[in-house]
Amino acid sequence: MYYQIGLLSTSPDRRGGRFDVRRQGMETKISEIADGIYRLSTYVKDIAPPAGFTFNQFLILGDEPLMFHTGLRKMFPLNRGALSRLIEPERLRWIAFGHYEADECGAMNEWLAIAPHAEPAHGQTGCMVSLNDMADRAPRVLADGEVIDLGQGKRVRYIDTPHTPHGWDAGVMYEESTGTLMCGDLFTQLGDGPPLTQGDVVGPAIAAEDLFKYS
Ligand SMILES: [Fe+2]
Repeated sequence: MYYQIGLLSTSPDRRGGRFDVRRQGMETKISEIADGIYRLSTYVKDIAPPAGFTFNQFLILGDEPLMFHTGLRKMFPLNRGALSRLIEPERLRWIAFGHYEADECGAMNEWLAIAPHAEPAHGQTGCMVSLNDMADRAPRVLADGEVIDLGQGKRVRYIDTPHTPHGWDAGVMYEESTGTLMCGDLFTQLGDGPPLTQGDVVGPAIAAEDLFKYS
């Protein structure tokens, strides 16, 4: 099985980093990383210098579009603008992420406010511990291995991965038709890199195949 990895890199320097979107002139770029799956990436040069750091969100198209990682709350205007170039934000149906943390889900409620049919979707631990209170709309509680059918051939399977990469609510999502693993923080990549690299899909894919036997 061939996996593509949707990266959201991690760095100890990123936490607590403060920035001004307008002052730094940041922009959010769009890359199609698989058929109907897009990366929205925002490079911040002042986080983890000198390489800088890129925040990534992912949009999976379908009858029920899913966004994996909402992005930081303060980046919401940038990400909303980028997503609007792909679909009307009101069409978002699912908002998912790897674990409860600002860059994974800081803008969750901002997205819920503009997408009236959107629901957060996360594992049982995350919903019980955080989302049942913090989300402005009740979450869809996903069991380990549960699938959401997004329509138009896209199916995402939620897999509990407690404490991997960190956080007891951690989980990943696997889009089955394209072999795309959504796995925030599982790999580290500084700088303003391309959406996919050889390193993303070869060595890690072999390890991932041993971990996830759902195919
Ligand atoms: Fe994290």
